[in-house]
Amino acid sequence: MGDLPISLPDATWRQKFRRRLRAWYHRHARDLPWRRTRDPYAIWLSEVMLQQTQVATVKPYYERFLAALPTIEALAQTDEQEVLRLWEGLGYYRRARQLHQAARIILADHGGRFPRDPKTARLLPGIGRYTAGAVLSIAFDACEPILEANTIRLLSRLLAYTGNPASTVGQKVLWAMAKAVLPRGQVGKFNQALMELGSEVCQLRQPRCRQCPVSDLCAANLRGLQPQIPAVTRKTRPEAVREAAVIVERRGRVLVLRWPEGRRWAGLWDFPRFPIHAQQPAALRGELAEEVRRLTGAVVAPGQRFATLSHRVTRFRITLDCHRAEYLSQADGQAGAEAMETRWLRPVELANYPLSSTGRWLARRLLNC
Ligand code: ADE
Repeated sequence: MGDLPISLPDATWRQKFRRRLRAWYHRHARDLPWRRTRDPYAIWLSEVMLQQTQVATVKPYYERFLAALPTIEALAQTDEQEVLRLWEGLGYYRRARQLHQAARIILADHGGRFPRDPKTARLLPGIGRYTAGAVLSIAFDACEPILEANTIRLLSRLLAYTGNPASTVGQKVLWAMAKAVLPRGQVGKFNQALMELGSEVCQLRQPRCRQCPVSDLCAANLRGLQPQIPAVTRKTRPEAVREAAVIVERRGRVLVLRWPEGRRWAGLWDFPRFPIHAQQPAALRGELAEEVRRLTGAVVAPGQRFATLSHRVTRFRITLDCHRAEYLSQADGQAGAEAMETRWLRPVELANYPLSSTGRWLARRLLNC
């Protein structure tokens, strides 16, 4: 550890810190559904869901998912559509697909049991150092550190680390600190206490230092550096893009496609949608027809725009113009250039298909009118 740019706290500090944190967590821990179990599968599921999503949003999804697929074996044996349907609305669907792939590998190669060895666990899709550490410490009390958004903030402040926590050096410092603070026993509970203190007390904008059990051990608090730590990484402004979604109708059915591997919503179904550029109505109709044909092979006559939605996806702010179109014929020869899997469905059937959130909004609208 000699090459760290900052020294880690000594044994006396660490002992005090552990004692205070434990006592605080004992009194203040929230009762969250994944804290009532030691089942590595349930904990893994919760950690994957919590990676980019808030606790309050995750709770109902977690409970519904576990009720539908209570074991790794059940997850491995279901199809991806069912997994995505259960995940629908949580976003970042790659998480769900990787969870499913990892469950299949665990069933095939590890007898259906989550690997107890962190190196083996990290070979699974979607499982990095954080997820492996969280699952193994919480389920088995393995002595593994964790580092995620809440603990990055907490540990940076405890150390008064003013560098960028996402940099190589920052990561090295913070992982070393996450490891240094670990107790000998009850590591899972301790790691959760770190996250809880980070989430409920050591908040980004208004840290509640007066309620913090370790404020006198916190270098940032002692030096009044809390507002500067963690150092902000400049967020790039969302980029505005214009897209269209087209509901192609044919005798009471609508045309949907399945996004292939490598696309933003891979595995999900959707109405044909794509970026648009034309300004004039005639040019726009041409562009809509061309793009629908390219994606699905259907030749269509686009109609008026009937709605405009605005939504955020990763770094894009998308304005989505929604059009209806009449089906005319299938293009000659091969289907569209991108040749996606397509289906003609009655609107009620859409309930069984995992859709993007705008796709679901449009599906609901179709059923209501
Ligand atoms: N964020 C990530 N993992 C968490 C957990 N286990 N409890 C609360 N918040 C979390």
